[in-house]
Amino acid sequence: MLTPPELYKLLAGSVLPRPIAFVSTVSADGVPNLSPFSFFTIASSDPPVLVVQNSVRGNRTRKDTIGNVEATGEFVVNIVSEDFVGAMNQTAGEYPPDVDEFVVSGLTPVASELVKPPRVGEARVQMECRLLQIVTVSDKPMGGSLMLGQVVRFHLHDDVVDAGLHINLDVLRPVGRLSGTGYCRVTDRFDLKRP
Ligand SMILES: Cc1cc2nc3c(=O)[nH]c(=O)nc-3n(C[C@H](O)[C@H](O)[C@H](O)COP(=O)(O)O)c2cc1C
Repeated sequence: MLTPPELYKLLAGSVLPRPIAFVSTVSADGVPNLSPFSFFTIASSDPPVLVVQNSVRGNRTRKDTIGNVEATGEFVVNIVSEDFVGAMNQTAGEYPPDVDEFVVSGLTPVASELVKPPRVGEARVQMECRLLQIVTVSDKPMGGSLMLGQVVRFHLHDDVVDAGLHINLDVLRPVGRLSGTGYCRVTDRFDLKRP
C-alpha cells in the first residue's frame, strides 16, 4: 500500500510540467490573498472555464483560497512569468488568513473590473473568474477540492497578444511546475502537424 506522500510523489513527478494558476481572492472581511496552484487546467473553452485544485492540509484544515472562494464566489487566475517567479514563491508560505500575500511578495494589486479580488499587475495574462461549482474529491489529508470558475473577463498586456489573439510565449515566458522544488521554462519548443 502506498502512503499519501508516496502517492503525491508518483503523481506530481509524472504529471508534468504543470501550469501554475496564481490565484488572487479576498476574504469575506476583504483581506486579499494570493497563492499558486499547479493542479490546474482548462475545463471548457465555451463557456471558458478553468479548474484549480486545493489540497486538504495534513491537519485537515482548508486553504485560505478555497475558503475565500466559497465565501465570495470570485477569484482571479494570473499566469506566472519567469521575472516574478521568486515573488510567487514567497506567497506559498503557510501564512495566517489575515496576511495579505500581495504585501509579502511586493507584487502589485490592480483593481479588477467585474470581481472583487485584485489582479496581479505584473502578470501578462489575468483572468477574472466567477465560481461555477466546487467539487470535493476527498476531505482527507492530501485529498482536495476542485474550484471550477468561468472566466468573465480576460486582461492581456498589449505586447503579449497579437491582432489574431496569438499569445507570444517569448513575452509571456511562463514557468512550469515539476516535482520537489523543480520548475521549467518554455524555451525549447517544436511543432507537430496533426494527421
Ligand atoms: C508552484 C506551486 C504550486 C502549488 N500547487 C498547489 C496545488 O495545486 N494545490 C494545493 O493545494 N497547493 C499547492 N501549492 C501550495 C499552496 O500554494 C500553499 O499551500 C499556499 O500557502 C496556500 O495558501 P492559502 O492558504 O493562502 O490559500 C503550490 C505551491 C507552489 C509554490
